[in-house]
Amino acid sequence: MSLVTGDVLLKRAMEGKYGVGAFNFNNLEFLQAILEAAKETNSPVILQVSEGGMKYMGLSFLEGIIKHLLYKVEVPVAIHLDHGSSLDAVLYAIRIGFTSVMIDASKRPFDENVNITREVVKIAHTVGVSVEAELGKIKGTEEHVEVSEREALFTDPDEAAKFVELTEVDSLAVAIGTAHGIYKGEPKLDFDRLYDIKRKVGIPLVLHGASGVPLDDVRRAISLGICKINIDTDLRVAFRNKLAEVLSIRRDEIDPRKFLGPARDAVKEVVIEKIKAFGSEGRA
Ligand code: 13P
Repeated sequence: MSLVTGDVLLKRAMEGKYGVGAFNFNNLEFLQAILEAAKETNSPVILQVSEGGMKYMGLSFLEGIIKHLLYKVEVPVAIHLDHGSSLDAVLYAIRIGFTSVMIDASKRPFDENVNITREVVKIAHTVGVSVEAELGKIKGTEEHVEVSEREALFTDPDEAAKFVELTEVDSLAVAIGTAHGIYKGEPKLDFDRLYDIKRKVGIPLVLHGASGVPLDDVRRAISLGICKINIDTDLRVAFRNKLAEVLSIRRDEIDPRKFLGPARDAVKEVVIEKIKAFGSEGRA
């Protein structure tokens, strides 16, 4: 069977010292691009859907996609809820067959984050689904924060150790200087902090906001304990740019396959590039 829990993929990645790409999708073209890229590189992959993505695609279509993943995909795949904001959202995802969920209570005080995460872990583990949580605050690139303020939002290594012990969560998203969206300058990752977190926490760590982070930095982060790398923006940009390019040349084209097809291929190229950089090629 190709559909596995996130935990299975991330534990293998931790042992093998490589990273697994977690790519967001909201439509058929992105899904096809990610799956084809994984197949071509013989790599495990994590497909991610946000709550907004669930709404956009609809639960019943998503259920159909999960059946496809169960029976028709040759590489190990996990399907993961990205940034689940509540127990309800997590339960919807689990009910239609997600094999991995994120509960993101990182905006809440530490104790509340612990309590909510612990509750989700208890329920998800009962039905064999793995759980990611977040500690520290990973901002959007559009949110303006001072450097000192920014660092105050980073994950504290001792708190991370306590959080993991209290919640028994399977993987932890850490705030070490990345942000969601398009970076204005080059992101600066706090590798010393990542090293300290890894020394104190024995579970796979997750890097959000990895689009636009130089691949050498991502590779360094992988060597320091990052096992799951989240990519959304880079795929959107590739899709949008190729679509604009094709439509600017074929101004009267009305067959969507003629412009969505090349845009899909552009996404696939980016996914292949990331998979190779993360070291998961040939690890299926
Ligand atoms: P980017 O959009 O910056 O790639 O971040 C994706 C992400 O972290 C999803 O959770």
